[in-house]
Amino acid sequence: MRQRAAAEPGRVGRQDESPMNDNEFRCRPRSLVAIQADAERIGFGMGSEAKTGAFLAALAASKPGGRFLELGTGVGHGTAWILEGADPASRLDTVDSDGNAVAIARRHLGTDPRVTFHVMDGAEFIKGLKSTNYDFIYADTWPGKFTHLDETLSLLRLGEIYVVDDLLPQSNWPDGHSLRVPLLLDAIESRQGFASVKLAWASGLLLVVRNAAQQCNRPDSG
Ligand SMILES: C[S@@+](CC[C@H](N)C(=O)[O-])C[C@H]1O[C@@H](n2cnc3c(N)ncnc32)[C@H](O)[C@@H]1O
Repeated sequence: MRQRAAAEPGRVGRQDESPMNDNEFRCRPRSLVAIQADAERIGFGMGSEAKTGAFLAALAASKPGGRFLELGTGVGHGTAWILEGADPASRLDTVDSDGNAVAIARRHLGTDPRVTFHVMDGAEFIKGLKSTNYDFIYADTWPGKFTHLDETLSLLRLGEIYVVDDLLPQSNWPDGHSLRVPLLLDAIESRQGFASVKLAWASGLLLVVRNAAQQCNRPDSG
């Protein structure tokens, strides 16, 4: 399970004694314990943490009948959370090039008719999607995040949502990840037609929503 390395900024007092304890989740996907056990068995340590999952579930719930895309299935942590929030009419495509990891996700979630697993390269999947739209995209692998960003954001219409995680420093980042993060943030935040907010929470999230704005007012522009 990915863990954030940096301390939570601006926090005072004992968070775990507060009703605002954000490590407490009243509901978790039923499949998560078994998914996590299998993740440990095969040494898969890249699963999305519960805070991120709860955030994904709430976003999925905001789009009844939604069409969702997860780039990077892993063993199914994020998939389970998205399905937890989604209503019965929603549909989720999830993509990963690692067939062994996806086999675990499929074992625990594959009976859910709302999800379709795609075992293939994420870049090839994105390139094949020219006329498709998604209400919400969770980009959790390189294609759609550090590469193929334009193609991925073009899948969103007004009001549709893109989320990335892993933006705060982590000990298990692969080579090159830390150099890519500021480039990704700049590429999104300097882009017209998208409202975005950085959340220094969980593994570090960026929430991006397509809007009609042509240009934002920059703080130094008066
Ligand atoms: C951070 S993990 C995904 C975790 C998952 N979303 C979750 O919530 O637990 C990243 C995944 O990207 C996959 N991956 C790496 N390169 C890929 C590529 N080019 N195309 C598709 N998947 C890729 C890896 O196999 C790995 O499972």
